Amino acid sequence: MNTSPVTSFLLRKASAISDEEFIQLRDFIYAKCGIWIDEKRKYLIQNRFEGRVAKLGMKTFTEYLKFLQYDANRDKELPFVFELITTNETSFFRDQKQLDAFTDHILMPVLAQQRAKNRFELSIWSAGCSSGEEPYTLAMILAEKLGPELRKWRISIQGCDISLPMLAKAKSGVYSDYAFKTTPEAMRRKYFTPVEGGFKISPAVSSMVSFQHLNLNDAAAMKRLPKSQVVFCRNVIIYFDTAMRKKVVSAFYDNLQPGGYLILGHSETLHGITMAFAPKFFPGAVAYLKS
Ligand SMILES: C[S@@+](CC[C@H](N)C(=O)[O-])C[C@H]1O[C@@H](n2cnc3c(N)ncnc32)[C@H](O)[C@@H]1O
Repeated sequence: MNTSPVTSFLLRKASAISDEEFIQLRDFIYAKCGIWIDEKRKYLIQNRFEGRVAKLGMKTFTEYLKFLQYDANRDKELPFVFELITTNETSFFRDQKQLDAFTDHILMPVLAQQRAKNRFELSIWSAGCSSGEEPYTLAMILAEKLGPELRKWRISIQGCDISLPMLAKAKSGVYSDYAFKTTPEAMRRKYFTPVEGGFKISPAVSSMVSFQHLNLNDAAAMKRLPKSQVVFCRNVIIYFDTAMRKKVVSAFYDNLQPGGYLILGHSETLHGITMAFAPKFFPGAVAYLKS
């Protein structure tokens, strides 16, 4: 095959990552965002970063590490690191059983309590919201449950993520078929309109949701968020080590109002992390009560 100088430059790969380089890059990533990469997954770092290293015109991971640590533009590289290291898998109405349990056993009682107090306010934090499917799903559930009463309520669903490209997609509100793989067709028809490139979320839903760039490793930034009645953090702490999980869960505890709930992904647990919450077992889901 004949390749032009430009093509061969693009095809060039960085040399394989050494054990020492892997440890340095892994520790750098952990210090920045709390994501922990086990030694068994060294190949993942190699696969995900080799293209980036080559694109920057560097031949080795050592050059890249020096750039990350000492270059005047090092902070501008961080979003690329986060993009390469995060897993952004999500979809609307992900884990329907858990969402049903949340709706019946948490949301409806909370709405009733708020009505009884004549306080038509609800605040939910979706921590690690990826491209927005989770917070928009919660907004659709609220639209379904409140119906015309929605007008009376001040609903704030705050979606936060470390990934700028995911947040940009969330803000655009336009989704392709993939995002609907776990979505009842009736919901897609009711809350989305076909547009070029996919389906756009309706303003009635998107007006309940706002997005913010936030690193769950940044305790001070988390303190500044408004207090919530419910925190969703699903399929996020699975990427953290125990120390980071403890730090993040403690921030959720502080953020929650008394009687508020933390909801994790179905494969995640607070076991070995904290005893501050009371686990509540519902059919199809566990939720953690700030008692
Ligand atoms: C697998 S997605 C989960 C999305 C959604 N919660 C769900 O369950 O469908 C994990 C998300 O956590 C985000 N994330 C990972 N580490 C983070 C950190 N330190 N701060 C904020 N977000 C983070 C990733 O960018 C990614 O979008």
